Order: sequence, then C-alpha cells, then structure tokens
Amino acid sequence: MTETATESSRETAGEPLLEARGIYKYFGAVTALRDVSLKLYPGEVLGVVGDNGAGKSTFMKVLSGLHSPSEGTLIFEGKPVHFSSPRDSRELGIEMVYQDLALAGNMNIAENIYLGREPRRKVLGGLLTLSDHKTGLRMAQEHLDNLKIHVKSVEQNVEELSGGQRQAVAIARSTAFRAKVVIMDEPTAALAVKEVGKVLDLISGLKERGISVVIISHRMDDIFYVCDRVMALYHGSNFAEARLEDASRSEVIGWIMGSKEHIGTVAHDRVQ
Ligand SMILES: Nc1ncnc2c1ncn2[C@@H]1O[C@H](COP(=O)(O)OP(=O)(O)O)[C@@H](O)[C@H]1O
Ligand SMILES: [Mg+2]
Repeated sequence: MTETATESSRETAGEPLLEARGIYKYFGAVTALRDVSLKLYPGEVLGVVGDNGAGKSTFMKVLSGLHSPSEGTLIFEGKPVHFSSPRDSRELGIEMVYQDLALAGNMNIAENIYLGREPRRKVLGGLLTLSDHKTGLRMAQEHLDNLKIHVKSVEQNVEELSGGQRQAVAIARSTAFRAKVVIMDEPTAALAVKEVGKVLDLISGLKERGISVVIISHRMDDIFYVCDRVMALYHGSNFAEARLEDASRSEVIGWIMGSKEHIGTVAHDRVQ
C-alpha cells in the first residue's frame, strides 16, 4: 500500500477532530456564510482559499468562537460545542492566530506568549497569587527552543521584531497551552520572501507534533508546501475541496475565481 493510500484510508476511517455543519453567518443584510461545512482530522493541515470577501476570515472566527454562528453546529471530538468567546474554544485546545496577530508591541516576547495566561505562584501560604515573571521567561525560552524559533532574547520588545519573527511569536503563543487545533489567517501575507519559508516550516513542525492546522492563504506555494487538503469558499459557500495530491495549482486558482473547469496553466500560476 502506498503512503497516500494509507493516509486517505486513515482519514476516511477516523473521526474528525473539529467539524462544522451548515454554518450561516449574517451581518445585518449581508450573508457572509451560507451553509458552510468543514471537517478537520487529527494532525492534518487544511488550506482554505477564496477570493477577498469569500468569507474565509468570518468562518475561522466562527470556529474560534469570536463570532457565534447565526445557524449551524460545531462539533469538537464528537460532541456539539457552543463558544461564547475565544476563551471557550481555547479551553478545548482551539487557538487562532489572527491576521493582525494581536500582539502587544510595547511588551516583550515572553509577556506576549503568556498574555492573559501568565504563570502564577502562590505566596503567603496560598492566600495570594502573583504572576511569576522569572518562570515566565524560562518557560517562554524553552517553548521557543522547542519550536526552533530563534530570537535574541525573550525580553526583547515585540515592536523591535521583523514581520516573520512577530508571526513566529504569535504562533508560539497559540501553541503555548496544549493546542490541538491552530487556525491561522494569512500567516505569510505580510512577510518578506525569506521569512515565508521559516513560517511554513514552523507550521510543518506543528503537524509533526500532532496539531491540526487550518491555514488561510492566497499563496499557492504555501498551500502546496504545507497542506494535506485544500478547500475553497466562494461567495460565502463551500465551492470545492481536494487532497493536495489530487489537485493542481491551476485548478485551485480556478476555484478561487469560481471556476471548476480545468483551465491549464495560467500566467498567475507561473508567477506565484
Ligand atoms: N464584522 C462584520 N460586519 C459586517 N460585515 C462583515 C463583517 N465581517 C465580514 N463582513 C462581510 O462578510 C463578507 C466576508 O468577509 P471576510 O470573512 O472578511 O472575507 P475574506 O476573509 O474571505 O476576505 C464580506 O462581505 C465582508 O464585508
Ligand atoms: Mg480575510
């Protein structure tokens, strides 16, 4: 049996880790998502593509609990779940790296990794807990080392970092607390070319640790480098999906434009 056959039989046999069924999201008169479904299997990297306004970010925000769906169901590890906020999804191990990263520039790397979830120590016989700064620095350094993220110092302020380093810190934060699913919205869009590879390798590293990843990207290089499967949204609905070995770049680019015809090699395909 080839590796591909083994992988697809495992995938069809296994239960999805995270599933979305029939998700609708209305913003006033705008229907941003219309009957959108998704299955994410343990340890897989799923690419999500679609044109601007296709509903990608909105869908990911529903999965992370930032938006509640107008209709539809989320299922995690086989059970229906309701998220009132990202705190709820985090408790189950679902983390999202937002497009703007939401890092605090004037705080250091360690503080950003543990923002709102600082290690604490008990004092006065347990009457009081204080944030444990030293432990935080040590844990942040160990965590970055594990992920093979190199920084001068974890006490460096985030505003001094390059775009790629900031993205790496945001990914480190998302995986600091036993994440099972990490959702990333365009993690390479704002990066210099030489930084893109590092972030993609970081994503491959998460997969090796058994973390499932959903990555939104416009770049076919990203999709074809890290993903196991790709799905396209078009005008707020599921349009197409395939395992990567069954899809070509020009096909996936066609999906983004709302076409399922095989359009051969287009100029866009060659420049990407
Ligand atoms: N908070 C919001 N309020 C109103 N409309 C929104 C909001 N967020 C997204 N939309 C609309 O939902 C649609 C999908 O947007 P979005 O999910 O950001 O698309 P994508 O990430 O694929 O570019 C767009 O028409 C957008 O204008
Ligand atoms: Mg978006």
